[in-house]
Amino acid sequence: MTTTSIPIRVATPDDAATLARLLRDFNSEFGAELDDRSTVEGRLSRLLARRDFFAILAGEPAYGFATVALRATAYGDNAVAALEDLYIQPDARNHGAGSALIEALGERARARGIMAAEVFVDEPDGDALRFYQRHGFVHRDPSTGDRAFYLHHDLDGDARLPHPERQFER
Ligand SMILES: CC(C)(COP(=O)(O)OP(=O)(O)OC[C@H]1O[C@@H](n2cnc3c(N)ncnc32)[C@H](O)[C@@H]1OP(=O)(O)O)[C@@H](O)C(=O)NCCC(=O)NCCS
Repeated sequence: MTTTSIPIRVATPDDAATLARLLRDFNSEFGAELDDRSTVEGRLSRLLARRDFFAILAGEPAYGFATVALRATAYGDNAVAALEDLYIQPDARNHGAGSALIEALGERARARGIMAAEVFVDEPDGDALRFYQRHGFVHRDPSTGDRAFYLHHDLDGDARLPHPERQFER
């Protein structure tokens, strides 16, 4: 299978069930919890109707997806594309579908005047880091070259993170 033979399309609200199925596969594979099926489907159906959220599907029937939330910025009139999830079912990996989704994301975002995209990756996920770097993502501030960190504050939970001075040891 080559990248050009992979069906890629933007999801519509009618794809909510398909996207919910893939989102569940993704979260099950990594042992993460997800709300119940109808809640997730309903949420996706509403999100896919919005202008500040979109999803791209790979395969027919779909075996992969990218979800993107657009966030406003004070540094320009156009939004920044935040890639929330990127997933290809295990059997379909390493055939270019993930790359095709990233390319489609870039095309759709540029067509809407969006000139920057961002994604969060956990440090142990070296394969994903390499994958994103090959597609132009950098984990440095583009203007200063300083290392960039993703800081998360769980505002409604009681998650205990390491002491701040120990978080950035490496
Ligand atoms: C990352 C992912 C979307 C890539 O999709 P894909 O269709 O396999 O990608 P492509 O065929 O276009 O490119 C293959 C690259 O993905 C990497 N990859 C393969 N399996 C991977 C995995 N389980 N996790 C992360 N990257 C993986 C391969 O190492 C390869 O990179 P390399 O050539 O530098 O070794 C897919 O592997 C996946 O869904 N992984 C699990 C979910 C995940 O890690 N998502 C990103 C988290 S932010």
